[in-house]
Amino acid sequence: CGIVAYVGHRPSADVVIKGLRRLEYRGYDSAGLAVYENDRLEVFKKKGKVADLEAHIGSEKPKSTIGIGHTRWATHGAPTDGNAHPHFSGDGKLVMIHNGIIENYAALKKELSGKGHEFQSETDSEVLIHFIQDVKNNLDCGLAEAVRVALTKVVGAYAIVIMDEENPGTLIAARKGSPLVIGVGEGEYFLASDATPIVEYTNEVVYLNDMEMAVITRENLSVRHIEEDEEQEPYIQTLDLELEAIEKGGFEHFMLKEIYEQERSIFDCMRGRLNAEAGTLTLGGIHHYQEHLINANRIIIVACGTSWHAGLVAEYMFEEFARIPVEVEYASEFRYRNPVINKGDVVIAISQSGETADTLAAMELAKSQGAIVLGVCNVVGSSIARLSHEGVYTHAGPEIGVASTKAFTAQLTVLAMIALKTAWHRKTLSEARFLEYLCELERIPAKVAKCFELNDKITVISELFKDARNFLYLGRGYNFPVALEGALKLKEISYIHAEGYPAAEMKHGPIALIDEEMPVVFIATRDSSYDKVVSNIQEVKARGGRVIVVVTKGDALIPKMADFVVEVPKTCDAFMPMVSVVPLQLLSYHIAVMRGCNVDQPRNLAKSVTVE
Ligand code: G6P
Repeated sequence: CGIVAYVGHRPSADVVIKGLRRLEYRGYDSAGLAVYENDRLEVFKKKGKVADLEAHIGSEKPKSTIGIGHTRWATHGAPTDGNAHPHFSGDGKLVMIHNGIIENYAALKKELSGKGHEFQSETDSEVLIHFIQDVKNNLDCGLAEAVRVALTKVVGAYAIVIMDEENPGTLIAARKGSPLVIGVGEGEYFLASDATPIVEYTNEVVYLNDMEMAVITRENLSVRHIEEDEEQEPYIQTLDLELEAIEKGGFEHFMLKEIYEQERSIFDCMRGRLNAEAGTLTLGGIHHYQEHLINANRIIIVACGTSWHAGLVAEYMFEEFARIPVEVEYASEFRYRNPVINKGDVVIAISQSGETADTLAAMELAKSQGAIVLGVCNVVGSSIARLSHEGVYTHAGPEIGVASTKAFTAQLTVLAMIALKTAWHRKTLSEARFLEYLCELERIPAKVAKCFELNDKITVISELFKDARNFLYLGRGYNFPVALEGALKLKEISYIHAEGYPAAEMKHGPIALIDEEMPVVFIATRDSSYDKVVSNIQEVKARGGRVIVVVTKGDALIPKMADFVVEVPKTCDAFMPMVSVVPLQLLSYHIAVMRGCNVDQPRNLAKSVTVE
């Protein structure tokens, strides 16, 4: 979900609606707005997209200069008008937007129902605002104190903003586990789930910390710790985020823009860190804990989704370059399994958004058992970045398309740099090899750009295969995680069932699926397992399967057996995923567009999953 709020001198509806559109990628099955108009709280909410909410509000936009808004990704209750936020308290005097999950909502609801509360929705959020009102009535105190006390009794995650009919110039906000940024303007404040709705107005922001709440008027911001009940000094940071970076810049979709940005984002990620000519690689972000990494007995990587795939590639890199054993864990599995964490283990958490709840929880668990936790995040100042002992930002710029593209290749770049640097310290790579890798890494942006020349050919292939019902993606070694990522991209945005598999494992199961109806995408670049993958291609062809193969430029053998080949530039095995994934991103993009799917906002998915 995404939340936006405003208090100041501008018409709040404009600020909030525009902000919601920028946050739509976080969740989008319904949207809502509350303002203070004609001496009362007014709420507009609608199932669907922000555009549906706008249509519902109509041309007579409210003039109020205070307002709160929300885009929802359903957790409790179906996506309906009624379940959309904002939600009123029982007496209708408070209205609230909420991002997160209230885990003890059922118990609270039962207690409140016993006291006569009636609920209009099935959401946990409505229970929370009723509960706050109940606490306020019981304690007979101001709203801020009631919010504080209520939140000490709540189990779960939240970022909330509340408006009060009796105090119509004040917003009350709080966070635990779900992000909330406050933009500081002149006589105005902005609140949002991330900085994207704020940057066009101000670059001064305060990141609310976990267990902090804020009371905000046009003129003043005060922050308080919820449990300790102590005033906190807000720390104002200056953002380095340009508006252009979050707009489409002439591309039809954010995803396509972000695919094409990879040449630059990979370069940006290395800038100031890697200098092949000078033979230097500096990662200031993990300066203090470098020793731990160099002496690690084991590295545990925790992540979800595409970031987990980046972790799999990193496993191969750390083992090859630095000879450190690596385990790659789904954050959601790791945290619930009483994992063994030994002294000398280093945990690396990978996350584009820096807000994924499962990854955060896995990090907390690892930290509580004494592990050093390093973060690889894209969003500066995000929760994961702040929870890590140290970390390296990917600097890919805001990624808006729900299907991750440029964040993935930037993660691979950062992980390659960490693995190389560690190997250099451990002397598991010779100086000469180390320098060769630095030079090759510097060439990757140009090689990625070469892949864009494949766009026309991939469009033609997409046309031929767009109606397939299933796809299989196969690769070995470093290209195995690429097969998983290619399959994930396709299913995420085109809703075609796709499975990624290690090519050699095909014969232990998926081979049974192969017939003329089944397109198989191989990633068969020239690496140490090339010959074996060629045999796998022949096995598929022998069973009538249709084969699309990503090959290294100049490959003379595979074009003779494949139905289609796309040639990518040559690079070393370890860096090939950054290159070979690009045609797969384009393939899924074009197929999804041809199928009429909403590429940037696929159904049911959210960009930043702040719930477990
Ligand atoms: C969601 C997104 C995926 C992403 C995953 C992990 O499922 O839709 O694209 O890979 O979360 O997100 P993170 O921000 O932690 O990388």
